[in-house]
Amino acid sequence: MLQKARLIVSFIAYVFKRIGELAWESIENRYRQIQFASQPPLTDHGEMRNIVVVGASYAGYHAARVIASSLPPNSPYRVVIIEPHSHFHFTWVLPRFCVVEQEHKAFIPYGPYLKGAPEGRVRWVHERVARVDRDSVWLEKSHDQIPYAFLVIASGAGAAEGLPSRVAADTKAEGMALLKDMQRNIKGAQHLVVVGGGAAGVELAADAKQKYPEKHVTLVHSRKAVMHRFGPELQAAALKGLENLGVVTILQERSASGSIVEGQITLQSGKRLQCDFLVNCTGQSPSSSFMAGLAPEAILPTGTIRVRPTLQIQDEKLPNVYVCGDVAAVGIDNPNARSAMRQGAVVGLNVVRAATGGSPTKTYKPFWGEGVIKLTLGLDKSISHVSDGKTELWWQSKERNLDLMSALGWRHLGAKPFDDDDDESEK
Ligand SMILES: Cc1cc2nc3c(=O)[nH]c(=O)nc-3n(C[C@H](O)[C@H](O)[C@H](O)COP(=O)(O)OP(=O)(O)OC[C@H]3O[C@@H](n4cnc5c(N)ncnc54)[C@H](O)[C@@H]3O)c2cc1C
Ligand SMILES: *[C@@H]1O[C@H](CO)[C@@H](O)[C@H](O)[C@H]1NC(C)=O
Repeated sequence: MLQKARLIVSFIAYVFKRIGELAWESIENRYRQIQFASQPPLTDHGEMRNIVVVGASYAGYHAARVIASSLPPNSPYRVVIIEPHSHFHFTWVLPRFCVVEQEHKAFIPYGPYLKGAPEGRVRWVHERVARVDRDSVWLEKSHDQIPYAFLVIASGAGAAEGLPSRVAADTKAEGMALLKDMQRNIKGAQHLVVVGGGAAGVELAADAKQKYPEKHVTLVHSRKAVMHRFGPELQAAALKGLENLGVVTILQERSASGSIVEGQITLQSGKRLQCDFLVNCTGQSPSSSFMAGLAPEAILPTGTIRVRPTLQIQDEKLPNVYVCGDVAAVGIDNPNARSAMRQGAVVGLNVVRAATGGSPTKTYKPFWGEGVIKLTLGLDKSISHVSDGKTELWWQSKERNLDLMSALGWRHLGAKPFDDDDDESEK
């Protein structure tokens, strides 16, 4: 009990410290605007220099916003965002919309989050970076070369199998079609097998069983407990939630192959399960291979990229290259959007400092409170959970919103829920 109280107090102390930090950053920003207001442009020949941001999800989109809105008006730098997706993919709601037919809400229009940046400060390139060298990035389709003065790597993680963890499509129309296929396949199955008992697998299995109680839903997980990256109390609560719904959970087992033969799949122990549709929720891995040519030593075997506390890449020769979000090796057990955004803010600030003649001395230190998770256990229940690795705090809630309050996600990114100009052109 005492330990739980200590956890709450330390969380509150952290919130106050963050408020102080944000106020200080805002003062720094105002001071910079005043300091540079009277100075003429710093350009050699009026040419813009690029701050290239690779990936515009939680980390990169936020870093781009901080940079674009904090550079002084006469700065010779502009932000070039390279991102293949036409829309922001709202990962949190993907398992839900694999079951519930509201898939359009998972695609948030890009742009409004950067409102407030001066005209011409931001350029979008909807492409994928294929490789990077000392002073340029190279694009995959057009083979264009884009030079950079600063580089921000925010390429996150990918899931080889796509849904439910990531959407393997670049346009909204294609992405929605993939979600609809998944909904249709789940609806059509009598024996659904979900492989992988992390958050995505647990949520999807629970939703499917509650929406279609007559179906057999089995969750297969290779570890001793579901949600193995989290504490034992959450693991037990998640398992209980699954059992209450009637999901059968098989632990310490793997599927021998993903293929369904005569309506069955075989597990590694030889055991067979009836299955007419399998959802693979395993295998997210960091997207860093395009960095192998530039900084091979900085890439860990897991695929994350080593960084210094300032989030500059761990390579003294590359002080102008920064890394943030799921692709950065910052020592977090369960990567999450909140810490990705805070890393994006640290990188943004450091880039602005360096681009205005200062030193990039802002550092990032992980805070356990950022790892707070809300795990849904069926369509109307959830568990919120946070832990410092020793003590766990968690509570259950009733959920009224079938779309998991998607509107909040849209508003947070400056978009009007669920208004999208693009919808017309894609019909
Ligand atoms: C199902 C699910 C639910 C989740 N729920 C929560 C939650 O409730 N709360 C929470 O805090 N976190 C949650 N997370 C975790 C959260 O989604 C991630 O931590 C977050 O998405 C990481 O953001 P990121 O910006 O680092 O990278 P990502 O979101 O992985 O995005 C990377 C971006 O980079 C782009 N990119 C990749 N390669 C290239 C390239 N070569 N060139 C150009 N662009 C590239 C991609 O297109 C993508 O837009 C959830 C994750 C999943 C899968
Ligand atoms: C799930 O996907 C991963 C990554 O692609 C793959 O290695 C694994 O074999 C797949 N498992 C099943 C059961 O399909």
